[in-house]
Amino acid sequence: MYLEGRGTTLFEEEKIRFSKPNVPLLRGKGYSCVDMHFHTRYSDGSSRVDTVKKKLKKRQIGVAITDHNEIKGSVKLIRSNGKLLVIPGIELSSSEGSHYLFYFNNVGDMQHFYKSHIIPAKDIHPHFALKISTDELLDLAQDYNCLTSVAHPYLPNFFGVLKNIRRGYVSKDVIKRFDAVEVINGNLLEKMNLKSVKMAYDLNKSYTGGTDGHVTRALGKVLTCAHAETPEAFLDEIRRKRNIVVGKESMLISKTWPTVLATRHNLRHQFNGYWHYKAKHWNERFVKYHARQIRETLSALKEKI
Ligand SMILES: [Fe+2]
Repeated sequence: MYLEGRGTTLFEEEKIRFSKPNVPLLRGKGYSCVDMHFHTRYSDGSSRVDTVKKKLKKRQIGVAITDHNEIKGSVKLIRSNGKLLVIPGIELSSSEGSHYLFYFNNVGDMQHFYKSHIIPAKDIHPHFALKISTDELLDLAQDYNCLTSVAHPYLPNFFGVLKNIRRGYVSKDVIKRFDAVEVINGNLLEKMNLKSVKMAYDLNKSYTGGTDGHVTRALGKVLTCAHAETPEAFLDEIRRKRNIVVGKESMLISKTWPTVLATRHNLRHQFNGYWHYKAKHWNERFVKYHARQIRETLSALKEKI
């Protein structure tokens, strides 16, 4: 049964809880708890992988590092990981601009997917829109048995798929092709997350949740919990709709930090991209100029001879 409400109201037989996660209690009930949406320095976050690892150990939770179009942070944590549950993941930006979360059963599958399809599709800014549409991304995902989730669908800009659907850039039916919807995103307002819950319920989709944290302090404030010990089993529980999502959106002041960090990061990349373009352009002009000079000198010498 779907129950509409606010605050700590429970949704659909307690599968979605808008409250601060009580990790010891959840672990006592046999749940593994994973923040399924977190960013590091490898895209626009501020956290180092080592710092993330320390906090995960302290809080006894797992994570999916989902950097924008990037897997270095995720691979680094998985390779150095001890007993922590780390789900291989990535946040992809389609050519239309919307963001999607792709989760893999193992790091090998993720690396193969990334090298074969994502690296060739990157544009001048590595973390902005790829040259692959939403439909194409979903087609590619079919070969990897990965779990696909619509990230922050109601984010009121083009990073949220609903905006793209309203403008006619993405087909309305495309959401039906995803396995899951991100029902609690720590950076959204509660009213936006409530809409995501309704969307997931109406379309009979699985539920995922994560902080979308860009600073270590945010890590673990939204958790996806399931009775599973490995990434494969955890994702399977989500597919079977046997998981729960527990968490609370960050305070308004905390929501501004990701924006500040992302803006700084994007400006730096834009700046680097601009100078890279300029340097290339100047190099070409320099080579052309000197080639012409050499040609003219040689022809002048020939005439003298
Ligand atoms: Fe994100």
